[in-house]
Amino acid sequence: MEVITSRDEFRKATSDVRAGGSRLGLVPTMGAFHEGHISLLRAAASSCDVVAVSIFVNPLQFSSASDLAQYPADLDKDISMAQAVGVGLLFAPSAQEMYPRGEPETRVEPGPLADRLEGASRPGHFTGVATVVTKLLSLSGRCRAFFGEKDFQQLALVRRLVADLDLDVEIVGCPTVRESDGLACSSRNRRLGPDDRSAATVLFKALEAGRDALSTGARQSAEVEATMVGVVAAERRAELDYAVVVDPVTLGSPASLSGELRLLIAARVGPVRLIDNLGVK
Ligand code: PAJ
Repeated sequence: MEVITSRDEFRKATSDVRAGGSRLGLVPTMGAFHEGHISLLRAAASSCDVVAVSIFVNPLQFSSASDLAQYPADLDKDISMAQAVGVGLLFAPSAQEMYPRGEPETRVEPGPLADRLEGASRPGHFTGVATVVTKLLSLSGRCRAFFGEKDFQQLALVRRLVADLDLDVEIVGCPTVRESDGLACSSRNRRLGPDDRSAATVLFKALEAGRDALSTGARQSAEVEATMVGVVAAERRAELDYAVVVDPVTLGSPASLSGELRLLIAARVGPVRLIDNLGVK
């Protein structure tokens, strides 16, 4: 595995992969790997000849310096985990390398998909995500890029970004990896104390209750949403931000409760804000 820290070298290494006739898979991450990240690396390896992973804790997508400072980092461990699953290129630039002129003056504005839900709670977050993802896709060139459904709004917005800007990339969405009790794997989980950790399963329980409400004939979004709200309300350690039923492409209210739907939830459990979602047919 080649570990690369400079943009120029990453650009050259990825274009060499293509020049050699190989298909490139890219997995953008912020490091601190868990099973969710590893599943994306495996998905990339199963359909691409060479897998590139980027590890960059992007300051543009954090709303406060303390949030950024608290983000976990363990590059040595990430390097050995990436190596173990057959990654070919690991790109781990510094902030100075990614943004050599300081914060970029040009940003990518993702539009209405970024305004609601996570965007409403975290102003500017998705502009930071869209900007860094555009840079990473520009550096890597033509590839297949893998993103987790865990961050469903991010995935929807990246798909739209690639379509709107005609980027030469195929986006692949991968299913959410969960702990055995249903909690979605996340680097934030390690900040949960034992009591909050067990309370955190309430997000997935609420999603399952929402799904059950739909499968047993709920006719209105409000009914489904009230079911999810009720589950979270019963857990005193959790404070709900939103629990909604949406259209999986527009992330707006669904025209009807038939066809594909997505249940999305966000709640604070102790000191940590958690998100999760579930697809329903
Ligand atoms: P990060 O939080 O490190 O996540 C990297 C990728 O792993 C994302 O596509 C995310 O959806 C996926 N992922 C996280 N937890 C997962 C889980 N439990 N199951 C499946 N996939 C999971 O998301 C980011 O980084 C950043 O915003 C980034 C896109 C890299 C831009 O900075």
